[in-house]
Amino acid sequence: MMLQSPSAASMLSSARQCASYIKKHASALVVSHIDADGLTSAAIMGKALERAGFEYRIRFVKQLDLKSLTEIADQNPELVVFTDLGSGMIDAIRSLKLNAVISDHHQPRGKHEYHLNPHLFGINGATEISGSGTTYFMAGALGGNEDLADLAVVGAVGDLQHVRHGQLIGLNRSILEEGVKKGVLHYEKDLLLFGKQTRPIFKLLQYSSDPYLPGITGSEDASIEFLKKIGIRQHGEKWRRWIDLETGEKQQIVSALMQFCLSAGIQASSIQRLVGEVYTLLSEREGTEVRDASEYSTLLNATARYDHADIGLAVCMGDRGGSFEEACALLNDHRKNLVEGLNLVKEKGLVRMENLQYFDSGNKIRETIVGIVAGMCSSFANNKELPIIAFADSDGGVKVSSRGNYDLVRRGLNLGEAIGEAAKAVGGTGGGHDIAAGAFIPREAKDEFLRALDRAIGGQIRG
Ligand code: C5P
Ligand code: C5P
Ligand code: ZN
Repeated sequence: MMLQSPSAASMLSSARQCASYIKKHASALVVSHIDADGLTSAAIMGKALERAGFEYRIRFVKQLDLKSLTEIADQNPELVVFTDLGSGMIDAIRSLKLNAVISDHHQPRGKHEYHLNPHLFGINGATEISGSGTTYFMAGALGGNEDLADLAVVGAVGDLQHVRHGQLIGLNRSILEEGVKKGVLHYEKDLLLFGKQTRPIFKLLQYSSDPYLPGITGSEDASIEFLKKIGIRQHGEKWRRWIDLETGEKQQIVSALMQFCLSAGIQASSIQRLVGEVYTLLSEREGTEVRDASEYSTLLNATARYDHADIGLAVCMGDRGGSFEEACALLNDHRKNLVEGLNLVKEKGLVRMENLQYFDSGNKIRETIVGIVAGMCSSFANNKELPIIAFADSDGGVKVSSRGNYDLVRRGLNLGEAIGEAAKAVGGTGGGHDIAAGAFIPREAKDEFLRALDRAIGGQIRG
């Protein structure tokens, strides 16, 4: 691993310490999170363990709480390796006396000997390295495994870590460069709209949510019209995919889109996000969902967030047959759910408080994707100055998701802390990152929680 800074060197040495602790055992239970970053983290750890000759099993949890931890402890595992979660639950992990290694990038609470987390070294876990990247470090310490850089990049992109600067930075960048050297990754500047590998070009416009293209987003006819007007032709009956276009045609579409956004009065920062770095997995077949890191991560979310983490994991482990097909089928439903979720928020609107805006989707949006919807709807929210809080019904309580933006973070917003504090005040649990966080709270506590959160956020951005 290329080392850019003393903090990265300290992280590497912490990874070595964790790896040598792992090596004192013969088998491990890997526990990970049900999203793209969690799946890729688990796959990286699984492959590293397999290659090093360990016995291992992988288990996914929606949320690491006392209940799931107790279930894990009841299985008496020789060793538990937590990936993409754990840092917020150290006290509970220790009180259950688990032999545990934690490889996570969420804001840590508590101290543990075998704990690899960028925040402990002054590295930002929301922008510089994800759970999969952190785990890639640990896999490196277990022995090589540089070829897994592609999975690490898929996890980082799944957590939207490339969004702030339009490219991966920090340790994510070192991992990317390592993947390039290994011949598994390629990067270049390109249009950021989703679906370049697999979808006919008009769909990229039709489903564009960041930026939201007024009059075009949501309309197939308007999207096709837009392309025809600037002279992009169909081939026979068929619209080509982005990857099938000539360079000149791509440039033409990008500049027409920029023009369109300018005249529609869209914020400059949103327009900038039309173009950025895209990451290609060179060992995957062109034109498939797994060739592009962003499409790959969405494919994974479409499995794990719908109780099918096993399918996503199999894809990460290399299955391009049955599991891949199942994942693609799930992806269709996922897309539909996201569109329906966004429409619901558009209809209902956001309720404004002093320092936040929120919507409650009740049982209309699944708790596991309500955070994605909250993130996507910031592109059409009238008020960009306030973080978005979302509620969804959950077994025995309410799931909370929150998404801010980098302007707010610069002004002091730390959603992970604010939400952790507010959840605790009402008997729930929560945490996450400065820019995105979540919680689980008792149903009847919603109003009190909102007031506490509003106060906490107000204190952060005024302080
Ligand atoms: O649990 P985890 O760390 O994997 O999730 C991070 C979450 O933060 C992702 O759901 C991602 O969508 C969100 N995020 C965001 N905007 C960013 C960075 C992260 O919404 N700029
Ligand atoms: O679920 P959602 O996508 O909104 O989660 C946003 C971020 O908050 C993720 O990084 C997630 O892991 C974290 N989170 C947490 N504790 C919770 C719920 C979410 O740390 N109870
Ligand atoms: Zn993560």
